[in-house]
Amino acid sequence: MPVVPGNFPFSRMRRMRKDEFSRRLMRENVLTTNDLIFPVFVLEGENQRQAIPSMPDVERLSIDLLVKQAEEAFSLGIPAMALFPVVEADGKSEDAEEAYNPDGLVQRAVRELKAAVPELGIITDVALDPYTSHGQDGLMGDDGYILNDETVSVLVKQALSHAEAGADVVAPSDMMDGRIGYIRDALEIEGHSNTRIMAYAAKYASSFYGPFRDAVGSSGNIGSGNKYSYQMDPANSDEALYEVGLDLQEGADMVMVKPGMPYLDIVRRVKDEFKAPTYVYQVSGEYAMLKAAAQNGWLDEKACVLEALLGMKRAGADGILTYFSMDVARWLKQEG
Ligand code: PBG
Repeated sequence: MPVVPGNFPFSRMRRMRKDEFSRRLMRENVLTTNDLIFPVFVLEGENQRQAIPSMPDVERLSIDLLVKQAEEAFSLGIPAMALFPVVEADGKSEDAEEAYNPDGLVQRAVRELKAAVPELGIITDVALDPYTSHGQDGLMGDDGYILNDETVSVLVKQALSHAEAGADVVAPSDMMDGRIGYIRDALEIEGHSNTRIMAYAAKYASSFYGPFRDAVGSSGNIGSGNKYSYQMDPANSDEALYEVGLDLQEGADMVMVKPGMPYLDIVRRVKDEFKAPTYVYQVSGEYAMLKAAAQNGWLDEKACVLEALLGMKRAGADGILTYFSMDVARWLKQEG
């Protein structure tokens, strides 16, 4: 062969790729069941299950059925579940007071889940969008602006009601300023110093949340409204570090980047900068895309889902919220 520039043929990258044993030996990242957080939708009633058209194979479940699903998730080795309520019209109001009802849907679900499967971590969503008549994550001022400080005082009550019901982790997803600090303070004062806070620290104003809003029934309420005055601009990256830094200073134990696949550069920057437990949310729109393509026979579902999630690990995520959690846990178990 003629002489070529570089180190070829002394360096041949393909030598290590030739056999499975050497591919395994040089593999840098691995996805395991320990990485999974399973987001679920909870519904009023008994023995109720509802399909979500934009999220095929995901169902809204009443508490009794959710408990069964939690038992299965736990037996598959999934560490934690994240709860999202489907609140009926009579639970929605301008002041969102149902959010901190000690006997509300989430609070009852937490108690029953912790009683049935005590070792499964239960994460609750702290935000007002299921409870406001306008579908925004906070209280609305007369001019339509989402009020920050007034919202934070409701979020504190909501987070406390979750902790009192037995939630292991409260996860503020609302993007109000200062809420992590106020929630941390209230948890300490009320004797919940071990309740963890997973902050949706870098949450973008993304169009990939569409199917989720269908699932919780807030899309009709929010209408053509948007969340630009509190969720982040998808164009920004330094701002995400600023947000994460503040949430950690205020007492967050875990920080999240959301959505996942279009934002993996943010995951990497956050992990490199702070070294804190870092999570990423493969959101409803990402789920819907993969599912739709798989259902059409255009993509291999298992291979593409595992690749997408491995990419999140490679970007630096310590864990991933994914609607595919149960499938992934089963796939990984089969592979041993
Ligand atoms: C709202 C909330 C949203 C999601 C989680 N919590 C939607 C939003 O901000 O409008 C989205 C999750 C998903 O799309 O899977 N507090």
